[in-house]
Amino acid sequence: MTEHSADIVLEVRGLEKHFGGVSAARDINVTVRHGEQIAIVGSNGAGKTTFVNMVTGYLKPSGGTIRFRGRDVTGLDPRQTARAGIRRSFQIAQIFPQMTVLENMLTADLAGETGRTAVWRASLSPTRIERARKELQHFGLSGHEGRLAGTLPQGIRKQLDIAMASVGEPELMLLDEPTSGVSVDEKLDMMDRVIGPLRATGATIMFIEHDIDIVRSYAQRVIAFYEGTILADGDVASVLADARVREYVIGDKHA
Ligand SMILES: Nc1ncnc2c1ncn2[C@@H]1O[C@H](COP(=O)(O)OP(=O)(O)OP(=O)(O)O)[C@@H](O)[C@H]1O
Ligand SMILES: [Mg+2]
Repeated sequence: MTEHSADIVLEVRGLEKHFGGVSAARDINVTVRHGEQIAIVGSNGAGKTTFVNMVTGYLKPSGGTIRFRGRDVTGLDPRQTARAGIRRSFQIAQIFPQMTVLENMLTADLAGETGRTAVWRASLSPTRIERARKELQHFGLSGHEGRLAGTLPQGIRKQLDIAMASVGEPELMLLDEPTSGVSVDEKLDMMDRVIGPLRATGATIMFIEHDIDIVRSYAQRVIAFYEGTILADGDVASVLADARVREYVIGDKHA
């Protein structure tokens, strides 16, 4: 144990993922400390989602290790990683369109449970309903409680997806393109609505983002992926100024 180890939330060493001949991750090494807010950038197909999928147990690595709070979580399934305190949201919001916003929140509350508890039982539990309502309020979603999730605008859907992922106050939250599908003028607003509440629960946050303005506004650190490898990792200004990042990731027009 080093003197700083109490701070370390995530330690990824030599992580690899191969799909046939495609290397979606090659020798990925990342250390994340408690309270960091990290943007993951990279062009399409760079391996960003693959990284998030492996950390959250949605994909089994081809090699390497993932340690969370010192515990080896390599190869655990999504339910196990969630229970350990790692959660994620998706590039495309994973909500139940035929259920109301409140019902969606109730199912999220149940997701951590084992056994035969069913949604209808949860829907009869005043304690659970109260808790789900509080969560919705925390994310500014109270006004949408009774609406069918399928009828919500894209930004609110994504907000709901993130709110659902944050049930149980996970220590590490990975957001896969939280602002994708949201109009340019709404992106900053949308980030304000999710990052604040997540921070308030004490979560360490990693988010995948293509929009460099969002990266500048909401990250202290940037990890740039390129063809399955990490091209640069450091504070926002230095990574965005890196010549290779400018060439391969953002393109000079945005830098
Ligand atoms: N399940 C899979 N089977 C085969 N190849 C895959 C699979 N998932 C990802 N890949 C490949 O791995 C590489 C990395 O994909 P990944 O989805 O991680 O990229 P990304 O950086 O998230 O891109 P985007 O910005 O488009 O979301 C790509 O070449 C992709 O085609
Ligand atoms: Mg992706």
